[in-house]
Amino acid sequence: MPLSIAVVRERGLGESRVALVPETAKKFAALGATLRMEQSAGIESHLLDSVYPEVTMVNGITEAYGTAGLILRVAPPSAAEIAAMPEGAVLIGLLKPFEDKARLAALNARKITAFALELLPRISRAQSMDALSSQGSCGGYQCGLIAAARCTKFFPMLTTAAGTIRPARVLVIGAGVAGLQAIATCKRLGAMVEAYDVRAASREQIESLGAKFVDTGVSADGVGGYARELTAEEKAMQAEKLTKAVALADVVITTAAIPGKKAPVIITVDMIKRMKYGAIIVDMAAESGGNCALTQPGEHVIANDVNIHGPLNLPSRMPTHASELYAKNLYNFLSPWIKDGELVFDWSDEVVAGTLLCKDGLTAHSVVKQVMEAA
Ligand code: NAI
Repeated sequence: MPLSIAVVRERGLGESRVALVPETAKKFAALGATLRMEQSAGIESHLLDSVYPEVTMVNGITEAYGTAGLILRVAPPSAAEIAAMPEGAVLIGLLKPFEDKARLAALNARKITAFALELLPRISRAQSMDALSSQGSCGGYQCGLIAAARCTKFFPMLTTAAGTIRPARVLVIGAGVAGLQAIATCKRLGAMVEAYDVRAASREQIESLGAKFVDTGVSADGVGGYARELTAEEKAMQAEKLTKAVALADVVITTAAIPGKKAPVIITVDMIKRMKYGAIIVDMAAESGGNCALTQPGEHVIANDVNIHGPLNLPSRMPTHASELYAKNLYNFLSPWIKDGELVFDWSDEVVAGTLLCKDGLTAHSVVKQVMEAA
């Protein structure tokens, strides 16, 4: 039997992406796979059923998942969706592996072989599969646009007959993939941009985009190219140096994250009190607790006349390109292992093994296992 790939409509609140786009459907079909998709699964990404000629459209989750060998998703499945999966099926998506013990148990109970793309090793070979990067770019770009749309000032310098307008001052905190895209977006719009990150390599990356690096003297490189959590002493030093930059900014965009942990709180209430009236904070870390002490996930809060935005699921605001990039990430991860219409993984491959969340009824990823058992 050829590999049967299944996709259903994402049902998460505000989710508008889809895990399969026409280009990847065509490529999977060329590898010998058959494809089933729930009707209208791509509609929120403006992909009508008619643009998927290789795919059989079916009615509902049970019909889509019933005979699936491989299930493509954007967000984690619900309990009902897991129950509809055939025992032993392969599942891939952004599965939020550290979030929900019950979900992990349900996947293991059905002996699902699950790959969580958040766990993908950040090595050169895996860049084309890196969904955190592709979706992070969408998120960072959206943060720049939200900030520009909400700011009561022009971003660029303007010379007009009535006088010269000074450019808006933007501070970006956290200069990973998303932060760098936020910097680039604000620079393109003409703002004066400063940025800060705790990783030593970030200085050069920030400066290469034409932004100014804010030096707090704190350097905190962790394992795997990520930042580590700061000590209490480092946090105090960072706060002292950042307070001035935050106070001068018209816009602060925060994107700081530590994998598998709550986002670090960097903008304190005291810093907000010193900010300009009418200033904007766009907190991209809202989903994992927020980098600003007063962020409310999904809300717009006003404190001391500072507007604090905690937008959720930013890539879903631009589903056409977010879905396209994400679907390509999935295809790039899976295609090397589909031969003559069959899915055969090399379990010793660094990328396969590093991304594997669970298999044969057991949690395979040692860090997830440790964190979730302790939770
Ligand atoms: P992330 O989303 O986990 O974190 C965002 C940023 O927050 C990071 O740059 C981190 O250093 C920073 N941060 C953490 N705590 C902070 C604090 N207290 N104050 C200020 N900033 C703080 O990071 P992302 O974007 O996923 O990238 C993580 C690393 O992986 C980066 O070094 C990036 O260059 C690298 N990477 C490598 C790839 C590859 O080679 N395939 C692909 C993508 C990223």
